[in-house]
Amino acid sequence: MSQAPHPAPAGGGGTVPRHVAIIMDGNGRWAQRRGLPRVAGHRAGAEAVQRTLRAAADAGVQVLTLYAFSSENWRRSAEEISDLTGLMRFYLERELATLAKEGVRLKLIGDPSAFGEELGSKLDKAVERTSGNSRLTLVVALNYGSRSEIVSAARSLAEQVATGQLSTAEIDEARLASALQTVDLPDLDLLIRTSGEVRLSNFLLWQAAYSELYFTETLWPDFDEAALGEALAHYAGRQRRFGGR
Ligand code: FPP
Repeated sequence: MSQAPHPAPAGGGGTVPRHVAIIMDGNGRWAQRRGLPRVAGHRAGAEAVQRTLRAAADAGVQVLTLYAFSSENWRRSAEEISDLTGLMRFYLERELATLAKEGVRLKLIGDPSAFGEELGSKLDKAVERTSGNSRLTLVVALNYGSRSEIVSAARSLAEQVATGQLSTAEIDEARLASALQTVDLPDLDLLIRTSGEVRLSNFLLWQAAYSELYFTETLWPDFDEAALGEALAHYAGRQRRFGGR
């Protein structure tokens, strides 16, 4: 994996990460502090997704990966799960034309089939409709868990060995990486987690091996262009120090 800094786009002042991932945390606390139901936090979180997507594209980020629903989120109440999936459906319908117009390609990782046929087919259509776009790739992790992704990759390599297509000696880091759902994406440069929690929570464990990690106290619904700008500046600073030694 190459860790060379990526060149900034024309006019940019520093080093822009090509691939940024975000663990969007703190929706519930944001709502609680205002005496609102949790769903209000998720709604405000969805607005933050839109702001951040726009800001990332403007900054020259090529891939933005968002942890929208983890495989552990099924432990939440049926009501909250239904609120979250309802919000996804709503935003997908409202924002698809905007995504297409702004040159955003949608990609999914995880196992979105668990959300049922109706939402699943809407998601598939959105992926297909935006597949020709190239300004920014928005990767939405849905029913995603990193360990399970790695297990699937190991299983697929084992099957290839069992059928004689692959020898065990040929299994190396590149081969395993190519069996992950992120195979077609550039290396993860920067991983952001909001709300002061300092954990990876089963998100992109393999992919984050060499990433810069950035934790902020900002709750996800408050995340905006300035907050993203701070994370990008932190990344550029780290890269500069790295180059100077
Ligand atoms: C964490 O907050 C956030 C989530 C579990 C889901 C993220 C969902 C959204 C931002 C909204 C919908 C998404 C899209 C793509 C339209 P939390 O509930 O864990 O917060 P807490 O830790 O404060 O309780």
